[in-house]
Amino acid sequence: MHILVAGSTGVLGRRVVPALVGAGHRVTALTRRPEAAADLRAHGAEVAFADVFDREALTRVVGRAEPDVVMHQLTDLSAVDLAANARMRVVGTRNLVDAAQAAGVRRIVAQSIAWVYEAGDEPADETTPLDDTSVEPRRGTIEGVIALERAVRELPGWVVLRYGLLYGPGTWFAADGIKAADARAGRLPGGPDVSSFVHVDDAAAAAVAALHWPSGVVNVVDDQPATADEWVPAFARAVGAPPPAAAAGVPHAPWARGADNHLARKHRGWIPTHPSWRSGFDTL
Ligand SMILES: NC(=O)c1ccc[n+]([C@@H]2O[C@H](COP(=O)([O-])OP(=O)(O)OC[C@H]3O[C@@H](n4cnc5c(N)ncnc54)[C@H](OP(=O)(O)O)[C@@H]3O)[C@@H](O)[C@H]2O)c1
Repeated sequence: MHILVAGSTGVLGRRVVPALVGAGHRVTALTRRPEAAADLRAHGAEVAFADVFDREALTRVVGRAEPDVVMHQLTDLSAVDLAANARMRVVGTRNLVDAAQAAGVRRIVAQSIAWVYEAGDEPADETTPLDDTSVEPRRGTIEGVIALERAVRELPGWVVLRYGLLYGPGTWFAADGIKAADARAGRLPGGPDVSSFVHVDDAAAAAVAALHWPSGVVNVVDDQPATADEWVPAFARAVGAPPPAAAAGVPHAPWARGADNHLARKHRGWIPTHPSWRSGFDTL
């Protein structure tokens, strides 16, 4: 297959590109940055340049490539600006889907997140409604996810991958990532909120496998949703930070419930090499 990877240089894209080439696919890697091209070509990809906010340029580039599949791994998180990332989800996705449709693309695989579900006591599965009661800043994130997921459904074939919190090399949850810096500065508290993690290599493997999955939404998370009281001390230990100060009475956000990976594991054949952050953090 010929796959156009939008977001080819991001934390997921730079794993997905060589994996797709290695699996025998033709890959067109989209980037805005000429300096990224040599690396992408060294991994066997063809390179195309466009800013996804430039609709005309993007439409031209996707039309010229004529891929079979578009892989949407676009985020705008390097400045930790959630509003910019929401704009990427809304406007960037709109432009990408329109460009894909204009080029006759029939299938898209898109990156989403797994902490978007409504409040509940158990980890959420894919049938759980999205949280439409949230207030800012969460509201902007949810609206971005809704817009992204609605747009990608317009193609005949589509898979939305709702990822847990990425950890591993190059992510915020790495020894040199911003969450490790937070832990060292005492800014990473415990508490009752539940999160689901996924190792970035397992997340990339899911994106490659999803080329062959039926249309639908799939949670891509590890087996062990955990409270911050559980995972923060383990993360701090793994990255050489002091343990968090004991924090009593931290309020619980009812939507912070984690996510369930039964569908991915049992029905899509996705088997994470790091089934739990407990052992996964030891590799950081
Ligand atoms: N589920 C999660 O927990 C999750 C998911 C994603 C990211 N993150 C975190 O966010 C951090 C930053 O993510 P990142 O390293 O992937 O960087 P990023 O700055 O978010 O960029 C991701 C990709 O999007 C592309 N992109 C951004 N804006 C673009 C635009 N206007 N037009 C075309 N392409 C555009 C970038 O391409 P070019 O710059 O090459 O043009 C890059 O390939 C990571 O360390 C990770 O921990 C977390």
